[in-house]
Amino acid sequence: MVSSHHAAAFDGPYDDTSWAALDLADPAAFVENDPYAYWDRMRRSEPVRRHPPVGGRPGFWAVARHRDVQDCYKDAARLGSARGTVLDVLLRGTDSAGGRMLAVTDRPRHRELRRVMLRAFSPRVLRYVEEAVRQRADALVAAVVGAGEADAARDIAEHLPLNTVCDLLELPAADRPSLLEWNKRALSSESAQDDPFDALEARNEILSYFVDVVRERRRRPGEDVISMIAGARVQGETMTEDDLALNCYSLILGGDESTRVTTIGALHALGVHEEQWRRLRTGEAAVHTAVEEVLRWVTPAMHFARTATVDLRIGDAEVAAGDIVTLWNISANNDPEVFEEPRRFDVGRQHNPHLALGHGPHFCLGAFLGRLELSAVLESLVRRVDRIEVLAEPPRVYSNFLFGHSALRLRLD
Ligand code: HEM
Repeated sequence: MVSSHHAAAFDGPYDDTSWAALDLADPAAFVENDPYAYWDRMRRSEPVRRHPPVGGRPGFWAVARHRDVQDCYKDAARLGSARGTVLDVLLRGTDSAGGRMLAVTDRPRHRELRRVMLRAFSPRVLRYVEEAVRQRADALVAAVVGAGEADAARDIAEHLPLNTVCDLLELPAADRPSLLEWNKRALSSESAQDDPFDALEARNEILSYFVDVVRERRRRPGEDVISMIAGARVQGETMTEDDLALNCYSLILGGDESTRVTTIGALHALGVHEEQWRRLRTGEAAVHTAVEEVLRWVTPAMHFARTATVDLRIGDAEVAAGDIVTLWNISANNDPEVFEEPRRFDVGRQHNPHLALGHGPHFCLGAFLGRLELSAVLESLVRRVDRIEVLAEPPRVYSNFLFGHSALRLRLD
């Protein structure tokens, strides 16, 4: 049995100097240190903090309280996304997809593009996807039950997100193995040793694949989502093939890692909190509240970032136009002003306004799909599994953006 508290694996509480010295831009920051103790300390001492410039990089603001993070998400007019929404990107320059890919676009273009992209989530499309997701999740869980040691990542979590987006975009089964392979390479920059050029090359493979698909569906439009989006107008013009490809890819980008680590996190949390698993399994707590609690508990996207478009006040801080502002979901989701006993994993938690999927105009476009994938896995577990046994402390993802585990050895009986 493995300890149920993340904190147990980390160093103890921060003293005054170690707290202020932690470099939030360092991917190792929260692999080596306890994030929950850090953010507790920060919310109490300096809830909107100016992070100093380090090693030639610009400084930036870090926002920790639930209330402030939520207000910032809503304030898209003064806190823009077009320069980029991930700290690492903003510290190095600007996002090359800015103004073209939905997540990194500001209004008025964002609003129109979002309306078009929402066509991918029409009831007709979702009905078809929903059934496929349930069947796939159930088959994956069924194959692991009673089969001895398994890896939650390799045997379950990895197969759901990309296939779901492929279903959504009606991509042929024959193309999926290459997409999966490219996508793995494109994301591998998460570990310290990986080659960034290989990742870039893989990303270009995916983009040119989507350019081909877009061309084909423009030539012979069907009833599918890509054909619908390809014919739509944004600010009076149809989108270029490159922009269409980029936005198709963004559905993979947005959904893959976040859903994968949340699924792994769900299995881990239910494995180590036996009482919570019992409540879920016996129906004492509902799958939908468990899904929300898993999202809060894991908070796979630790932060999202914005750039101030004008001078503004956040809490007590004076933020200047052009400043980078980071919104720490992981802190907001553990704010005791909003969540009772935040470090208690409670599958029946009733008041749970977590920000794991963001908030406001950029609220996760794939929220329905992400929740669907998670509930499909939980429903299947409830149906088929008595005991979830975690066999080893899982390895952490090396990132200051993504929080979670990259693998998880377990046994389902
Ligand atoms: C936006 C989290 C699943 C596609 C976001 C945002 C968050 C988030 C926090 C807001 C970003 C911001 O404000 O800058 C998550 C989590 C997921 C998940 C935790 C799963 C557990 C998905 C899936 C898809 C997806 C399955 C695609 C099918 C997107 C897109 C946006 C977005 C396209 C940009 C929306 C916009 O800017 O208008 N997601 N997401 N996400 N997500 Fe998700």
